Amino acid sequence: MRKKIVAGNWKMNLSLVEAVELYQGITELTVAPQVEVVVFPPSLFIDRLMTQFLHRIKVGTQNAHPVTSGAFTGEISMQQVADMGIDAVLIGHSERRQYFNETNEFLRQKVDAALANNLRSFFCCGEPLKVREVNDHLNFVKNQLHESLFHLSAEDFQKTVIAYEPIWAIGTGLTASTEQAEEMHAAIRSWIVDVYGATIAENYSILYGGSCNPSNASALFACPNVDGGLIGGAALKLSDFEILVAETTWITSK
Ligand code: 13P
Repeated sequence: MRKKIVAGNWKMNLSLVEAVELYQGITELTVAPQVEVVVFPPSLFIDRLMTQFLHRIKVGTQNAHPVTSGAFTGEISMQQVADMGIDAVLIGHSERRQYFNETNEFLRQKVDAALANNLRSFFCCGEPLKVREVNDHLNFVKNQLHESLFHLSAEDFQKTVIAYEPIWAIGTGLTASTEQAEEMHAAIRSWIVDVYGATIAENYSILYGGSCNPSNASALFACPNVDGGLIGGAALKLSDFEILVAETTWITSK
């Protein structure tokens, strides 16, 4: 059975005090053994959280640079992230693509650098509204995956997680319908079959992100090819995140 994952992307939110409180709350949640919880706090806070709470919940950075070291003011490298004992890195979030002009080619370099440093990549893909409106969303996402991820060896690919986040659903309150989510997730799995074969595809976790919250999570997580979520706004409130973790636990029985 493939792993169910609930991941919280805190983005550029929370004070240190709030982040400590939230992380502590998450360490106290009941999580089924077959469910993995990962949070992506602001990078500056990560070491404090890991140290203070004995790294009880996995953590990742929301970004890192592919070059090992050098004159890249304001950036941190994958190697520096790995040095800190951090587990994972988010790659290709649409906010990075949109506001920082990150291209598929650049994201491919990040994926390679993350793997070279034994970091688990949570690779985000998803189409803008304009692409969805002309019904080209499947091609668009397929291309993102082929240009940034599907060059990996089978061994490396299995150290990654894909999060499908339709851009029009991020932070908008609009959520993909279960049909829309399942269509894309099933398509992603079929492309994984094409490149890596059926066994790897069957065991691979594909997360949904985009206004996922306690009121829609159970329907989304019940989709056969949705293996949990990458959560933004609802990951900032412990009571909401707790419900999402509980829903993810429930789907382990599907
Ligand atoms: P929201 O859940 O706030 O829509 O954000 C989703 C997201 O971007 C997670 O990476």
